[in-house]
Amino acid sequence: MTLQLRVYVPSHPLIKHWLAVARDADTPSVLFRSAMTELGRWLTYEAAREWLPTQETTVQTPLDSCDATFIDPHVPVAVVPILRAGLGLLEGAQTLLPLASIYHLGLERDEKTLQPVCYLNKLPEKFDPQTRVLVTDPMLATGGSIMKAMSELTQRGVNPDLTRIVCVVASPAALRPLSAEYPGLIVYSAAIDETVNSQGFIVPGLGDAGDRIFGT
Ligand code: PRP
Repeated sequence: MTLQLRVYVPSHPLIKHWLAVARDADTPSVLFRSAMTELGRWLTYEAAREWLPTQETTVQTPLDSCDATFIDPHVPVAVVPILRAGLGLLEGAQTLLPLASIYHLGLERDEKTLQPVCYLNKLPEKFDPQTRVLVTDPMLATGGSIMKAMSELTQRGVNPDLTRIVCVVASPAALRPLSAEYPGLIVYSAAIDETVNSQGFIVPGLGDAGDRIFGT
């Protein structure tokens, strides 16, 4: 069986609603931030399915004993927000993954070359190979930033098959190289937009997510 990148675009009214709010150019920063938080929450909820490790046991209810499933606290879970815009999705993700370690990765695109430049790297030297990693970044445009992030992660022992990417808008230009390099990876996105313009913006997209989150 040949593995192929899977991209889930959950058909959920809350995801559609907050995507519409985020896309609207008239949405002010304060509401745009709420939209990112909500999208982070609901997309992480979807991503956690069959990804968060569980352990089977039994519990004693007031009436009887029964089978029970808990989240396994021994398997490390990490969230990697790609700064700045990935921070917008982090809060929602963190409410569902309260025990996760957060490792910040600061990447910005050089405006001329559109190549990502790393200005902050708080990744550990080595990850436990069992670590479940969730990467958050609202935009996968040319794919340069997410490819750089995946390269930094896998160099440090992260298993791409145990990695999930949560984004808001993804373009085929970014998904193609991801699929070629990391076929076991799974992406959760609120939408797929076909076009990336010559300035590296996704069209119709939602503009510059980092600037809209932070009001810059
Ligand atoms: C945006 C976005 C992604 C990246 C996507 O960040 O949040 O990280 O661009 O583009 P790519 O797929 O072409 O690499 P930006 O560089 O604008 O930095 P910011 O988050 O600090 O605004």
